[in-house]
Amino acid sequence: MPAASDRPEVITSIAALRERFPAGTTALVPTMGALHAGHVALVDHAAALAGETGGEVVVSIFVNPLQFGPNEDLARYPRDLDADLDTLAGHGVAAVFHPDVEEMYPAGPSQTRVTAGEVGGLWEGASRPGHFDGMLTVVAKLLGIVRPAVAVFGQKDAQQLFLVERMVRDLDIPSRIVGVDTVRADDGLALSSRNRYLGDDERIAARVLSAALAAARATAADPALRPAASAVRAAAEAVITAEPLAALDYLGIVDPATFLPVDDDFRGEARVIIAAKVGPARLIDNGTLELRPGTTA
Ligand code: PAF
Repeated sequence: MPAASDRPEVITSIAALRERFPAGTTALVPTMGALHAGHVALVDHAAALAGETGGEVVVSIFVNPLQFGPNEDLARYPRDLDADLDTLAGHGVAAVFHPDVEEMYPAGPSQTRVTAGEVGGLWEGASRPGHFDGMLTVVAKLLGIVRPAVAVFGQKDAQQLFLVERMVRDLDIPSRIVGVDTVRADDGLALSSRNRYLGDDERIAARVLSAALAAARATAADPALRPAASAVRAAAEAVITAEPLAALDYLGIVDPATFLPVDDDFRGEARVIIAAKVGPARLIDNGTLELRPGTTA
């Protein structure tokens, strides 16, 4: 177990956080806790960025009620600050910002919300109405509280990253947003705090998400096939539907510049995005591929 002295300092109030870190001096990693190696990769990336400018790393841990729907896992979302501080020990984190709900929303759920627009209603947003408005609202608050030079997000939540980048541009928020590649288990499963909901058989079945991404890539790269988006999509979908423990929510191929679905004429880099329920866990994954002109008609 790491020594208590290696653990980051914990700050719970907005005033104390602002006093400790002047604007523009930090690299922020916003999280909801339940930290795993994927978060550690974000923290290590933030530490490298902060090191370039003499800044410090702040990790926020806050399970934001605004981004959970009424039937979602807010109550049972894993919370273990002690374990999270152990995970962060030795990774160069100056402080963990860990406010409670009253500190963040003293007058009850925020009346003012950031709205995520058209893309916020698609994919994750279609399955989780209001999720992205709640997520953007808390991220805007965290950026306003911490005022970091840079904030680091995981590419695993590709739609979230897309929307945060757009919010920062649209609202002239003076923080740079950086995305970090997804960290995967040896069998391909993207690391996620929600993986801990999986039983043994479900954990094996959950491999189908990354297997579907691999099938999409293989189809797109096969010169004997016409690699139009719909064929690529069908190949990936077949992998998920063949797994009885997995229920597909959506599988889309989007233009990374707009996050809108591509049509069959699209050529260039596209992103495959997948959500599926495996047992009690709703899992997401995504990856890029290249749609090239086909060799056969
Ligand atoms: O990705 C998450 O953990 C959350 O959506 C975030 C960005 C910390 C906002 O609550």
